Formats: sequence, structure tokens, C-alpha cells
Amino acid sequence: MAGDAMNRMFSALALALLASPIAGCGGAPDQPPLAGARIGGPFALTDQDGRTVRDTDFAGRYRIVYFGYTYCPDVCPTDMQKIGQAMRELDKSDPKLSQKIVPIFITVDPERDTPAAIKQFVANFHPRIVGLTGTPEQIAKVAKDYAVYFKKQPAAPGGGYLVDHLAVAFLMGPQGEPIASLPIDRDGAAIAEQVRHWVR
Ligand code: NI
Repeated sequence: MAGDAMNRMFSALALALLASPIAGCGGAPDQPPLAGARIGGPFALTDQDGRTVRDTDFAGRYRIVYFGYTYCPDVCPTDMQKIGQAMRELDKSDPKLSQKIVPIFITVDPERDTPAAIKQFVANFHPRIVGLTGTPEQIAKVAKDYAVYFKKQPAAPGGGYLVDHLAVAFLMGPQGEPIASLPIDRDGAAIAEQVRHWVR
């Protein structure tokens, strides 16, 4: 949807702003672009099997975090496809590195995205994706913590609705610290390359 494209532009801008204080610090040339940015934080959500999952459950592992919704007509499935593609490529080329990474999908449509709906959705892309949902309050908080804008649009005559949202894939480090936003507008190979660059 057009809103997603606009959000992508907005996200690039917002991320540049978030990261800008670091750029001026004269740090190491290869400092992660999002080092020190206020992205991420603690959460307790529900996974695709109905279990409670906390951010601390991923301690020691890198995470690729993407917010979207299973009813998304175009952008989310395409982006998740690319993340899945990147993970499959890493599984083959760098299996040890790949095992250090957890792809995480967090819904911005908790009303419709039940654990069962999310389970079916994420299974399309890669077997290790953790899909998370929660109460509207929990989702609003985690999205805010990740600086991800989303807004439910007015329902269409048939009752369906779209959710306008920021489409960005964050690479987070083993302590939950933000590292970089992955090139989700490119392809799986480009994403895999960025992951290889940052994951140790
Ligand atoms: Ni979408």
C-alpha cells in the first residue's frame, strides 16, 4: 500500500535523526549505525504457540525484529519473504552464525492476529521465526519502544481494514541493543550481507 512506501521514507528519516548524535561523536568508523539509539526495551508478549515470551528469553542472541500484520496485502509478506530468504541463505553459508539469530515478527494488529493466525503466517517464511502478539496495550507499548508508528485505518464496506505501519527490520544485538536497520527495501542477499557484517 502507498502508506507503507511513505512510512519507509519516514522511517529512513527518523532513523537518521535517531542515529545522528552518534555520527557526530567521532567514534570508530565501523560503529553500528543505531548504536545508542533509543530503540527496543523489555516486553512480555504471546508467541504463536500461546506461550509468554519475554525479551530476556533472547538474551545472548541477535534478533531481526519486524513489525507488521498478517492481513497486510503486500508489504509485510514481501518483507517477511526477504527475511526468510536471508535466513535460509545464512543457514547454508554460515550455519553457526545463523543459529545466533532469531527472526521476530511482532503484529501491529492484535485484534485479528491471534497466535494461531500468526503461526500460520510465519510458517510461510522460515521455521525459526518467532511470531508475537499481545493485548492492544502491550502492542502499543512495544511498538512505541521500537519507534514503530502504526495506525488502524477505517474499515472498508466489507468490514476489513488496513493498518498503516512503519516497515523496518531492526537488527538487535545479544543484549537487545539496536545495531542497524536492515535493507528490507532490497533483497534477501543484501539483508544477509548486512547481517554477516554485524553478527559476530
Ligand atoms: Ni504491511
